[in-house]
Amino acid sequence: MTSAQYPSYKDVDAFIDVTRLRALDGFITQRLRDRLAADRPFYTGPFLLEEDAPDRPGSRMIELAQSREPENYYDLDRTEIWEPSPEAAEFAPLMAFIATLPFAATGRMLIMYDPDGRAVPAHKDHDSIDLCHEFIWFRTNLGKPFYMLDPATGARDYVAGHAAWFDTVNQFHGADASGELSFSIRVDGIFNDAFRAQIPYPSDNRAAAASAWASVA
Ligand SMILES: [Fe+2]
Repeated sequence: MTSAQYPSYKDVDAFIDVTRLRALDGFITQRLRDRLAADRPFYTGPFLLEEDAPDRPGSRMIELAQSREPENYYDLDRTEIWEPSPEAAEFAPLMAFIATLPFAATGRMLIMYDPDGRAVPAHKDHDSIDLCHEFIWFRTNLGKPFYMLDPATGARDYVAGHAAWFDTVNQFHGADASGELSFSIRVDGIFNDAFRAQIPYPSDNRAAAASAWASVA
């Protein structure tokens, strides 16, 4: 049993340097404008709320880390197989910020952006309730209307701050259209011991850890 409530996310602004993150806004925005069209389309994965919603909704991805193995979504927290991509050098100040996040080791690192700020349809990232991905989703500005959605009620909870960890399995998440360049960054890995010590990991449905934590606060 878990005490997790939905929809929910754990605000982790208190665990990161928000001032430093906000200061990256101009730099990242300019780099993204310079890169338009060169980047790979973002894929929601197959677990869409609405079956006929677009799974490549128009946003793009920049991979700051690359895997040494063939692509497999379930590898995103196998930190030993990931190494910085060529793009990482282009985003060196962002990489320096990522190094300050509460991880013992990092795996996949992605910038997700959309020059036109289109909606990202509600989806789950995977369907294994025993698998809890440890990641921080963060942003330098609050422009992307990003929400959690409870499949049972359709209720939404919009992320208010700069950084969050959330349950990607027992609820949906997505973004509304903003109509202008919007972006967010997700870093997966293994949280460090000090951070992990604060998390009430459920004994079953481990994927619910972030929502269980959010429900404690
Ligand atoms: Fe997702």
